[in-house]
Amino acid sequence: MIDSAFSDATLVDDPQEGAIRLHGPEGFAGMRKAGRLAAEVLDMLTPHVVPDVVTLDLDAMANQFVRSRGADVATIFYRGYSHSLCISVNHVVCHGIPSAKKLKDGDIVNIDVTVVVDGWHGDTSRMFLVGDVALKARRLVEVTHECLLRGIEMAKPGNTLGDVGHAIQRYAEQHRMTVVRDFCGHGLGQVFHDAPNVVHIGKPGKGVPLRPGMFFTIEPMINLGRPEVKLLDDGWTAVTRDRQLSAQFEHSIGITEDGCEVFTLSPAGHRAPPYRF
Ligand code: MF3
Ligand code: CO
Ligand code: CO
Repeated sequence: MIDSAFSDATLVDDPQEGAIRLHGPEGFAGMRKAGRLAAEVLDMLTPHVVPDVVTLDLDAMANQFVRSRGADVATIFYRGYSHSLCISVNHVVCHGIPSAKKLKDGDIVNIDVTVVVDGWHGDTSRMFLVGDVALKARRLVEVTHECLLRGIEMAKPGNTLGDVGHAIQRYAEQHRMTVVRDFCGHGLGQVFHDAPNVVHIGKPGKGVPLRPGMFFTIEPMINLGRPEVKLLDDGWTAVTRDRQLSAQFEHSIGITEDGCEVFTLSPAGHRAPPYRF
């Protein structure tokens, strides 16, 4: 079915997920630009993620950078959120709110940004190590990055979202770490959060069959302790119930004929810490 209000996309109906958009070349071109800018925000921030930096200042830098490119961040006014970044430190699982607090030596930090370029959404996050970080925390960050890569490797036609989740869950649990269940990846494109839900656990062959033109994020949150999270009173900040460390990486991808395209790869070549700049 052709749906001209939404670029050159068509729709596929999934029994569990409802309508999932299949994008054409116009969508891929839009996502390439949006994904690149989102990745450039994290590249730009990289040298600034150091002890004593105020997280609100990182937020302001990101906002200025995005707006100087004639683009917008997706998170300001999104469901009452009012910042350009989510900055999630140590036991914060996701949606940490930038504040006057400073990063300190030994912290592990996720910075998550979503930009809108010509109506297309680029959503990505990376972990950063602040100063000297304990071995166990660095291991968590490494395992989490590898979980994302293994999920992406399974993202191709012929596979399902269950294959993606299974690859992530297996790798995390092999390393005696746990996968957060309460938050997932999501379809995106001209909409920020769309179908399908991309859960980071799963069974091989189950769930949505992947088809060329599907756009979604993979954004596993991996914990050193138990997988359960709790929401703080601010209504956003999600923390681990057991207060142990949590890590996350996120890419926005599009399924192609023979695999997937990662829209949010770092133009500077940053993958996982330690970053060289
Ligand atoms: N970027 C987050 C994601 O990966 C969403 C942040 S919504 C906010 O889906 F409002 F918390 F910023
Ligand atoms: Co996302
Ligand atoms: Co994100």
